Amino acid sequence: MCGIIGRAGDGDALASLLTGLKNLEYRGYDSAGVAVRNRDGIDVCKREGETDVLDAAVAERNLTGDSGIGHTRWSTHGAPSDANAHPHTDEDGRVAVVHNGIIRNYESLRRELREDGHRFTSETDSEVVPHLVARELDAGATPEAAFRTAVDRLEGSYALAMVVEDDDAIYATRHGSPLVLGVGDDGNYLASDVPAFLEFTDRVIYLEEDDLAVLDEEGYRLTTRGGETVERAVETVDWTAGDAQKGVYTHFMRKEIDEQPASLRQTLEGRSEGPEAVLEGFPPGSLSEVSDVVFVACGTSYHAAMYGSTLLRRRGIPATAMRANEFAHDPMPVSDRTLVIAVTQSGETADTLASLRVANGSPARTLAVTNVVGSSAAREANDAMFIRAGPEIGVAATKTFSSQVASLALLADRLYADGAGIGADAGVRMPATSMAEGSSTTDGGTEAGTIRSLPEDVETVVNDGGASRLAKQYADADSYFFIGRGVGYPVALEGALKFKEITYEHAEGFAAGELKHGPLALVTPSTVIVAVFTGRDDERTLHNVREAQTRGAPIIGVGPESATEIREAVDEYLPFPDTDPELAGILANVHLQLLAYHAAEIRDRAIDKPRNLAKSVTVE
Ligand code: AGP
Repeated sequence: MCGIIGRAGDGDALASLLTGLKNLEYRGYDSAGVAVRNRDGIDVCKREGETDVLDAAVAERNLTGDSGIGHTRWSTHGAPSDANAHPHTDEDGRVAVVHNGIIRNYESLRRELREDGHRFTSETDSEVVPHLVARELDAGATPEAAFRTAVDRLEGSYALAMVVEDDDAIYATRHGSPLVLGVGDDGNYLASDVPAFLEFTDRVIYLEEDDLAVLDEEGYRLTTRGGETVERAVETVDWTAGDAQKGVYTHFMRKEIDEQPASLRQTLEGRSEGPEAVLEGFPPGSLSEVSDVVFVACGTSYHAAMYGSTLLRRRGIPATAMRANEFAHDPMPVSDRTLVIAVTQSGETADTLASLRVANGSPARTLAVTNVVGSSAAREANDAMFIRAGPEIGVAATKTFSSQVASLALLADRLYADGAGIGADAGVRMPATSMAEGSSTTDGGTEAGTIRSLPEDVETVVNDGGASRLAKQYADADSYFFIGRGVGYPVALEGALKFKEITYEHAEGFAAGELKHGPLALVTPSTVIVAVFTGRDDERTLHNVREAQTRGAPIIGVGPESATEIREAVDEYLPFPDTDPELAGILANVHLQLLAYHAAEIRDRAIDKPRNLAKSVTVE
């Protein structure tokens, strides 16, 4: 959701800015632009479209710059256009600003500035900032003081970076939107996300809320908004530049699907060797006070959260997953024994952060399950657990879903081992169900050791070519319905989300038993049904499959290798190695990722950058 880059230091800044923008394109690709300082003053070049268009424009103008800022945009206020592209300037081009976030009070600020004679050239909320700064400069303020005064007038969320004519510094601050500082040997960087400058440095400072950074040739200086100098730790990230590059792959999504055996190994390393899950920061007994769990998350992370809540309920621990954008305004009642878990790959999703803040204001304990060390979620929650999936660049989340679910499975085991839950003493019991034989209502955890074979099992699925063939075979269908039960239900939702997100085809996910309560009316021979089987309660899902089959729908089953009855009942079958039914959903999901990927490839879609979407959604 908009990417910011900045560089100050020795040598030409432009090449690093353009590289940074390319690395940040997953955050937005409606337009891109740079403002560089050179002997002519400040030169701005910006274009609607992806960064290639900007690269060409920069080359045509022979642009150079000693320092500068850049931006790649995901439109909120104002359509994608050259005029709405960042950086924005004041009328005289003395001040150039890039912004990520939303300035809520921009209309009143615009009115006020217009009354003072300022004229605007874009429809964006961001353009008020350079005008506010210019007004302060005209009144005699220094650039730093002008920046502080301007920022004090803003309401909403923002990460901002600014350059000013005749001044060799970059000024930047953050409030509700991410900004990290990269500490290099011959220059320092500012960016919305670490992958922007990973090929230049792996040493980073995660700016705190309302920190103000000043970067120049000499180095950097950090202060609070009030002007007090602050020291922030320099951390070394363990991601490499190669982790955030496509390498031999055509798409990041495919690279990230293939990386899952390795990313899962990282997720599990040191955590699953013994009979009990070992989680750093959560020694045995540390979760014993937890009575119930509420997950908050969005999109793919919400599906992982649903999966996690099912695992907890099966361990007798009351748990529910809520969409973060709902919880933030309509929260679940909580107590001081409730654990609210925010699941978020980026740790920067505005809806999820809003929920986390609501939970932080309640008696509940909060935990962020995230991929990004130093992210807002990691810092704002009482505790953090890192999924260690490595950087994910494709807008469609893939390897992070697997690592989120594996992490939540370990966490569920830790909670169970700690005796979390309300317990039988309080009269809380698992209701008896009429599940198929062989299933139990309360599980003490995944079969000991099974989780350790997850990376190998995922590898088997990644190497299976079945999804590619089926994507071609069913390319002409009208709709794709994904169904599942238990942990297969969030996987069905996730399969449908992935499919619609990158193919632009109509795809929906349903609880298998729900099909007959309405959606069946839509089922025709042109509706492909993708049914997820996990090895638990599959008999029922098979009944639901038959209901659709009778209406002529072709069925693709995704299930355990040894499930011969299911294999015979469906038209096509994508098998995965037999495993604990609790983990089977992760394996099934890899097939669904591949199905979506190949279906999008056939349709020649922009797989890594689907239309209208961005990787990290930092506005509510
Ligand atoms: C899924 O492919 C999407 N990219 C999207 O649903 C994403 O999972 C959602 O926006 C949440 O992001 P987060 O995990 O970074 O919070």
